[in-house]
Amino acid sequence: MNRTIAAQLSNAGKEYKTGDTTLVALQPTTINFNKGEVTLIVGPSGSGKTTLLSLLGCVIYPTSGDVWLGDTCVSKLSENQQAELRLNHIGFVFQGFNLIAPLSSLENVMQPLLLKGVSRKTAKEKAMGILRTFGIEDRAGNLPKTLSGGQQQRVAVARALITNPELILCDEPTASLDHQSAIQVMKILQSLSRDNRAVIVVTHDMRLKNYADRIIYVIEGKISNNPIETEF
Ligand SMILES: Nc1ncnc2c1ncn2[C@@H]1O[C@H](COP(=O)(O)OP(=O)(O)OP(=O)(O)O)[C@@H](O)[C@H]1O
Ligand SMILES: [Mg+2]
Repeated sequence: MNRTIAAQLSNAGKEYKTGDTTLVALQPTTINFNKGEVTLIVGPSGSGKTTLLSLLGCVIYPTSGDVWLGDTCVSKLSENQQAELRLNHIGFVFQGFNLIAPLSSLENVMQPLLLKGVSRKTAKEKAMGILRTFGIEDRAGNLPKTLSGGQQQRVAVARALITNPELILCDEPTASLDHQSAIQVMKILQSLSRDNRAVIVVTHDMRLKNYADRIIYVIEGKISNNPIETEF
């Protein structure tokens, strides 16, 4: 990967077609995200924040322009190549957690390591370690449905970080957390950014701005660097 720019949209936009209507979820956008920085993405509901994060996370393809991760034009890669890249370089905390229902917290967190070919023993040790960091090791054996929202959220964050990815994308990672736990997660994300990782966090919680190096505003599919006089 490129030394400073972790991810880049180059005129990348996303439209959704349903029937004969076209919805512009993200207007063509050019923007860089650097290693060593925490970027907050804020904006009203439906403005395109998850769409922007999903493009960077190789979860969806742009309908125009390109997405780059380091020196790789990821929007030209096949789905399998993108899956490989996600596994090796990207940690994604999904807005709805996306935990695997029949797997325990521990197994959910182990999963990316197992997919990478790490032994079960090592994966288990690492996963227990990160569950401990987030104060939920006592829930290691629980299925997601038996966890509180905040506990599920921490499992989702732990799973995203377990592979030590260069690009960390978090969609509302603190929405279900009390203030102290939210601060704990942001401190961990900030320290990872200082370790030359790019951290991009979608949030409605402006209290998190103390942990941000940069704030990007998204309004009606358009990105801006300027604060907007709106409460999100
Ligand atoms: N798969 C899809 N098909 C059609 N329209 C979609 C799809 N995904 C998102 N959209 C639309 O694109 C727009 C942007 O959605 P997006 O999920 O990016 O918003 P958001 O800023 O993350 O909102 P929220 O804060 O509520 O999570 C919305 O109008 C949404 O309805
Ligand atoms: Mg969203």
